[in-house]
Amino acid sequence: CRPGRGRVLAMTITIRDLCAADREQMARWTIDFFADLKAGGDPYFEGAVLRPDAVARDLILPFPSDRLGVMALRDSIPAGYLTARLDRPFVHESPIHLVGHVSHVYVAPAHRRQGVARALLAHAEAWFRDRGIGWMQLSWQPGNRLADQAWRASGFEPYRIYGRRRIAEG
Ligand SMILES: CC(C)(COP(=O)(O)OP(=O)(O)OC[C@H]1O[C@@H](n2cnc3c(N)ncnc32)[C@H](O)[C@@H]1OP(=O)(O)O)[C@@H](O)C(=O)NCCC(=O)NCCS
Repeated sequence: CRPGRGRVLAMTITIRDLCAADREQMARWTIDFFADLKAGGDPYFEGAVLRPDAVARDLILPFPSDRLGVMALRDSIPAGYLTARLDRPFVHESPIHLVGHVSHVYVAPAHRRQGVARALLAHAEAWFRDRGIGWMQLSWQPGNRLADQAWRASGFEPYRIYGRRRIAEG
């Protein structure tokens, strides 16, 4: 064999809990995630500003044990994160006491379409199952094409539609 430049055929994705040392990375990703969502043009984002110093200050790391906060690494390179919690289903009378709610999933642009979100969701699913949870849910905006494709590809179906109309300035 001649040593030379090879092709990387597969990178290993690992998932680990967020820790205190992730503060800067998480603050950057939170800002980038916000910018991605803001670019979708939803009127509620108009004039909305996320201050980097406030984001870094307010991050609670590591996450409390009743919540999930994990980072995905592709061959040791930070690639994305997921946060989740247990929540009541929207039908409060339901005999289903708690459902798994995925709050954030963000994958850095350079690592997209490599199965990182799938790996993060699989990890969250296992975390929910370990707690006896039978349903997992997340939400996305209809104009978010990447999320729409990714979540539908992972078997998520819309189950509730929010409506709104403008009634005045303000
Ligand atoms: C949505 C997001 C998390 C997906 O992450 P990802 O790591 O790229 O997703 P995956 O590689 O695991 O893709 C899983 C499946 O989703 C679908 N998918 C993802 N990106 C897609 C794209 N650009 N075009 C078409 N299908 C796509 C595919 O079916 C894919 O499976 P496949 O590659 O085997 O065909 C990522 O695009 C992202 O961080 N976007 C910005 C933040 C955001 O909108 N987050 C969600 C808020 S609700």
